[in-house]
Amino acid sequence: MKIIKTSQSRLSKTDFSNLPFGRVFSDHMLICNFKNNKWQTPEIVPYGPIEMTPATQALHYGQSIFEGMKAFKNDSNEILLFRKKDNLNRLNRSAKRLSIPEIPNEIFLSGLDQLLHLDQNWCIKDDNYSLYIRPFIFASAEYIKACESDEYKFVIITSPTTTYYTNDIDVIIEEKYTRAASGGVGFAKASGNYAASFYPAKIAKNKGFTQIIWTDAKEHRYIEEAGTMNIWFVIDSKLITPKLTDSILAGITRDSVIKIANDLNIEVEEREVSVDELIEANKNHKLQEAFGTGTAVTISPINSITYRDEKILIPKKSNPKSLEIKTIFQNIQRGRYPDKYSWVSKLSV
Ligand SMILES: Cc1ncc(COP(=O)(O)O)c(C=O)c1O
Repeated sequence: MKIIKTSQSRLSKTDFSNLPFGRVFSDHMLICNFKNNKWQTPEIVPYGPIEMTPATQALHYGQSIFEGMKAFKNDSNEILLFRKKDNLNRLNRSAKRLSIPEIPNEIFLSGLDQLLHLDQNWCIKDDNYSLYIRPFIFASAEYIKACESDEYKFVIITSPTTTYYTNDIDVIIEEKYTRAASGGVGFAKASGNYAASFYPAKIAKNKGFTQIIWTDAKEHRYIEEAGTMNIWFVIDSKLITPKLTDSILAGITRDSVIKIANDLNIEVEEREVSVDELIEANKNHKLQEAFGTGTAVTISPINSITYRDEKILIPKKSNPKSLEIKTIFQNIQRGRYPDKYSWVSKLSV
């Protein structure tokens, strides 16, 4: 792999006490082009603009996918990557659905390790800090026909980050707009899914809500996700989350929570969760917790859920299951607890 190092690191000029999510980027990026039916040799170059023409296909048809993952520093100052193969596999599931050529394991995994090795000082050891990693692939051919592209760019950029939501979140159940429908691309991290969510999210924000709870496209009766998080409820001491369908993103945090909860002997149910069930459980004082999970937010407690005119306040418990699971999850990520699930990997460079 060709590596061109920056001659002017921005590290010393970066204010790590003020890191708005997704605005600050490390010194380098990885780029790999697909052309002539083949992924070419990747390069690591200084972070900066990518040259493209106005006819770049992704700009017109949104043939574009991405991932979100994190690296942490352990107490010995080594970088730990969390579940990188799971992100790679999901990227390739997205690629298949969006008719994008899958990225070879070697390009993704060893490219990522080398990039992180080079930019390791952008990953801060202190609690609350991590390095957010954004791999993405977009259609890069200069071609404005509505068809799959024959050229793509795979890029990885990284961004130092801190806590995403500093407060508990208030969500509203959406009954008009949908995020994803059966047969569509909701299970993929397709850029267009997010573009379509911004307008309904803006309406909700203007009413004072942090995020939307997405419901099924057909009847708006079943709960799917909360914004860009998987959603969880504790009802009658059981941990309940909507079962995966092709309109729900299979969160890696979601999967981790299930495994940790199983080991804590907390009963987990992956099944349909209706809005009616939630309302009923609240009436009967059986709704004990609600939270969202995702790479950026980790495990984020929900303060209230609004359904039409009714605002359900989620009880504040002194020792919620979400916190018990989050503590284990974060300590595994930072290499402080034994990694019995083999989720964490050190760099191989
Ligand atoms: C729509 C959606 N759902 C759920 C998640 C959570 O997935 P993960 O835990 O893998 O970050 C994300 C974020 O990646 C997302 O964008």
